[in-house]
Amino acid sequence: MNKKYYIIVILAILVTTLSQTVSFIGGEHKLYQTVQDKCAKCHGDIKNQLSASAIHSSYSCIFCHRKSTTNHTNTKPVCQDCHEVLLNDTLEAHGDFAVLGSEGCIACHTTYNVVINYSRPAYIDYDITNSSGEWIITNFTTIGTLNLSYNTQRDGGNHDLSENTSCRDCHRDIFDAVSIGGHAIVIGKDGRQASTHNTGNYTTLKAWCLSCHNGSDPKFPTKQHSARKTTCDECHEAYGGSHPYNLYASIKTVPHLYRSLVCIACKSTGWPAPNATMHFRVHQEPYFDVTTW
Ligand code: HEC
Ligand code: HEC
Ligand code: HEC
Ligand code: HEC
Ligand code: HEC
Ligand code: HEC
Ligand code: HEC
Repeated sequence: MNKKYYIIVILAILVTTLSQTVSFIGGEHKLYQTVQDKCAKCHGDIKNQLSASAIHSSYSCIFCHRKSTTNHTNTKPVCQDCHEVLLNDTLEAHGDFAVLGSEGCIACHTTYNVVINYSRPAYIDYDITNSSGEWIITNFTTIGTLNLSYNTQRDGGNHDLSENTSCRDCHRDIFDAVSIGGHAIVIGKDGRQASTHNTGNYTTLKAWCLSCHNGSDPKFPTKQHSARKTTCDECHEAYGGSHPYNLYASIKTVPHLYRSLVCIACKSTGWPAPNATMHFRVHQEPYFDVTTW
C-alpha cells in the first residue's frame, strides 16, 4: 500500500585529460603559479564547475581536498565536515537522504543529474458516513499502480553548487498535480482558492510549497533542514483549529500520504456534507480527479 520512491544520482563522467599533462612535458615550459593551477591541469572540468558555482567559488581545491597524510593523494571531504546539517529529524521530509552522505547534499544543491522513479496507487477509494453526527471514514483502499519516472536532465557537475534548491526538479509530479487543481489547492465553498492557502499570495510556487512544508514552523518544536512532513489535520490542530463532525479523529485512520487527498477531494467537489454514506474515488497525483457516488 505504501508509496515507493527510488532516487538515482547519475554521476557525471569525470574526464581526466591526462594528455594535458603530456603536453606540459613535451610542449612549452610553463611554471605553475599555484597548487590550484596544478590541479586544474588534470581536473579542468571541475575547475570550470567551481568557477561557475554560486558557492565556494573563491576557495582553492586544497581548501577542501587536504593533502593526505598517509598516501600521495588529496583527500575527499564530506560536506558535513564543514556544515552541520542534520537530515534525521523524524519530521524531515528527506530523512532517507541522510544515508547518502555528500551524495544526498549534492542531489539537492547542485546541477548534477537526478532520476527519480516513483510508484503509487492509481486511485484511493473510501466511504465517508455520517454516523449520528460524526463523519466516519471506512473501507479505505487503494486501486492499481502508477509507475512514474522523471529525469531532471540537469547537465552540471558536483562542484557547481547553489544554496537555492529547486523542488520542481524532483517533484514534477506534484507541480503537474497542482496545475490541474490537485495536491493542496484548497477550494473554498465559493469555488475560489481558500485565502490562506491561495497560490496567488506567494511570490513563487516553491514559497507556497514551503508554507505548508515549513521546516521552521514556530508551532512545531523541532526544525527540519529542507522541508517538513505534514498533514492538513495535524497542522490545523497545531494552529488551534478543529473540524465539524469530529472528522479529525477519523481521518487519522487514513495512512500518511493519503490524508491530504481526502481533504482536497472534498474541498474540490463543493464541500458536500454526507447525509448518509458518500463514496469517493480519487485519482492520485499527478492525475488529480475525483468521482463521488
Ligand atoms: C596529473 C594529473 C592530476 C593532477 C595534477 C591532479 N590530479 Fe587529482 N586525480 C587525477 C586522476 C587521474 C584521478 C583519478 C580519476 C578518478 O578517480 O576518476 C584523480 C583523482 C582525484 C580525487 C579523487 C580521489 C578519490 O578518492 O576518489 C581527488 C579528490 C583529486 N584527484 C584531487 C586533486 C587535487 C586537489 C589536485 C591538486 C592538488 C589534483 N587532484 C591534481 C589526476 C590528477
Ligand atoms: C568546498 C569544498 C570543495 C572544493 C573547494 C573543491 N572540492 Fe572537490 N570535492 C568536494 C567534495 C565534498 C567531494 C566529494 C563528492 C562526493 O562525495 O560525491 C569532491 C570530489 C572531488 C573529486 C572526486 C571526483 C568527483 O567528481 O566526485 C575530485 C577529482 C575533486 N573533487 C577535485 C577538485 C578540484 C580539482 C578542485 C579545485 C578546482 C576541487 N575539487 C574543489 C569538495 C570540494
Ligand atoms: C572545507 C569546508 C567545506 C566543505 C567540505 C564544504 N563546504 Fe560548503 N561552505 C564552506 C564555507 C566556508 C562556506 C561559506 C560560508 C558562508 O559564507 O556563510 C560554505 C558555503 C556553503 C553554502 C552556502 C551557505 C550560505 O549560508 O550561504 C552551501 C549551500 C554549501 N556550502 C553547501 C555545501 C555542500 C553541499 C558541500 C558538499 C558537496 C559543501 N558545502 C562542502 C565550507 C565547506
Ligand atoms: C531535499 C533537498 C535537500 C537536501 C538533501 C539537502 N539540502 Fe541543504 N537546503 C535545502 C533547502 C530547501 C535549503 C533552504 C534554501 C532553499 O530554500 O533552497 C537548504 C539550505 C542549505 C544551507 C544554507 C542554510 C543552512 O541551513 O545553513 C546549507 C549550508 C545546506 N543546505 C547544506 C546542505 C548539506 C551539507 C546537505 C547534506 C547533508 C544538505 N544541505 C542536504 C535542501 C536540501
Ligand atoms: C533531489 C531531489 C529532491 C529535491 C530537490 C526535493 N525533493 Fe522532496 N523528496 C524527494 C524524494 C526522493 C522523496 C521521497 C523520500 C522518501 O521516500 O523518504 C521526497 C519526499 C518529499 C516529501 C514527502 C515527505 C513525507 O514522507 O511526507 C515532501 C513533503 C517533499 N519531498 C517536499 C519537498 C520540497 C518542498 C522541496 C523543495 C524545497 C523538495 N521536496 C525538494 C526528492 C527531492
Ligand atoms: C502550515 C500549517 C497548515 C497546513 C499544512 C494546512 N493548513 Fe489550512 N490553514 C492553516 C492556517 C494557519 C489557516 C488560517 C487559519 C484558519 O482558518 O484556521 C488555514 C486555513 C485553511 C482553510 C480556511 C481557508 C480560509 O482562508 O478561509 C481551509 C479550508 C484549509 N486551511 C484547508 C487545508 C487543507 C485541505 C490542507 C491540506 C491540504 C491544509 N489546510 C493544510 C494552516 C495549515
Ligand atoms: C496547503 C498545504 C500544502 C501545500 C501548499 C503543499 N503541500 Fe505537499 N503535502 C501537504 C500535505 C498535507 C501532504 C501529505 C499529507 C498526507 O496526505 O498524509 C503533502 C505531501 C507531499 C508530498 C508527498 C506526496 C506523495 O504522494 O508521496 C510531496 C512530495 C509534497 N507534498 C510536495 C509538495 C510540493 C513540491 C509543493 C509545492 C508545489 C507542496 N507539496 C505544497 C500539504 C501541502
